[in-house]
Amino acid sequence: MALSPTEARAAAAAGCPVDHSAAASSGVDHHGYEPFDLKDPFPAYAALRASEPVMYDERIDCWVVTRYDDVKSTFENWETFSSENAQAPVRERGPQATQIMKDGGFTAYSGLSARIPPEHTRLRAIAQRAFTPRRFKALEPTIRENTRAALAAMLANPERAGDFFGQVAYDIPTITILTLLGVDPSLVPTYKRWSDSRAAMTWGNLNDEEQVPHAHNLVEYWQECIALVTAAHRDGGDNLIADLVTAQDGGAEITDHEIASLCYSLLFAGHETTTTLIANCIRVLLAHREQWDQLVEDPTRIAGAVDEVLRYSGSIVAWRRKALADAEIGGVAIPKGANVLLVMGSANRDAEVFENPDVFDIARPDARNHLSFGFGIHYCLGNMLAKLQAKIVLEETLIAVPQLQLAGADIDFRENLSFRVPLSVPVTWEI
Ligand code: HEM
Repeated sequence: MALSPTEARAAAAAGCPVDHSAAASSGVDHHGYEPFDLKDPFPAYAALRASEPVMYDERIDCWVVTRYDDVKSTFENWETFSSENAQAPVRERGPQATQIMKDGGFTAYSGLSARIPPEHTRLRAIAQRAFTPRRFKALEPTIRENTRAALAAMLANPERAGDFFGQVAYDIPTITILTLLGVDPSLVPTYKRWSDSRAAMTWGNLNDEEQVPHAHNLVEYWQECIALVTAAHRDGGDNLIADLVTAQDGGAEITDHEIASLCYSLLFAGHETTTTLIANCIRVLLAHREQWDQLVEDPTRIAGAVDEVLRYSGSIVAWRRKALADAEIGGVAIPKGANVLLVMGSANRDAEVFENPDVFDIARPDARNHLSFGFGIHYCLGNMLAKLQAKIVLEETLIAVPQLQLAGADIDFRENLSFRVPLSVPVTWEI
């Protein structure tokens, strides 16, 4: 049975299993950094940048990198720092979950983000060809229509109060990616359940028992990806999976397993982070009322505002790499085989690059230099689609309800190493 958005978020928020006292008792100074606590990580990021910009954290077995130049140059140096660990579970998979996944034929591998050249180069070129501007353009009216419908449903509440995260931001990008891939959009709750499991199993902090229901979900999810590829072979269609199958028929070097792996990636990456971006646009702009009002006056500034939201409050605050050789980051020796955590959420607040980095400013000229989509050969393939959706939702919201208010600034965030997801964005409005 699918969890409702509220149930799913409550489940994700239920208690942080990290022992936060461990740092103090071990005597190691982590400068206030708590890897899974993303409520307000920015003071700890600042402390790390100032005191120990490349710090080994034994709690996650990662070298934590927090300065902009170091993060960017490590992303760039793919020959030494590979992305092969990007999708590895942060917490070891327990025996029960392992068995469930083995019995269920779970052989999913990363679509792109954890693949390395030359395999990555081959698959990215094929996937990129399917990510055509024509496909995105065709989606625009659907995104706008879905946004209007979601806003109308929320605004119908006579209490004049709602949760922008659960009622507007949650479904829209999921419907978009399902439509893009030719999947029935009524399956949003199912895909959200699978995606929540994927985020929890890979970047969460679950014990063996907690992993079990998620393992079942991942088996279902993967089997569905395989079924989608089989259906595309059989039925064709005007969608991205059919495009990949057609490319294969036309001689492109891609296997069915690789297409299913791309589906497995896109049906997660294609909405999870965009839901967060949309929620963050509303949350951060409403918290800076004068800038919200500037957008009401002049919607042509929305695209710039979306970039500043991505810089100031990115959907993914940290991403992993693995050292393939003895190397160095910011003058610190990194041994071969070590895991590296590139903290983009910190890099985006580095005063060496951004003036007054803790100030949210939609007029900032260089906001686009943020690292929230990564950098280099793995740079986010869906960045245009994510920004397009955020732009459309903002445009429609500013028109439909310019008087929207944030109903409480103390918002909690999901416990996670990488995905900084607000649990709700409570809003109110006057007629
Ligand atoms: C706000 C929304 C999004 C954020 C913050 C985001 C962030 C990221 C990040 C940090 C990476 C890893 C980059 C690296 O390793 O250098 C990535 C990769 C990727 N993203 Fe996104 N993403 C977003 C939306 C999307 C959407 C909408 C899609 C698909 C429709 C998508 C598809 C991908 C794919 C396929 C990759 C792997 C690219 C590769 O390894 O070559 N993303 N994204």
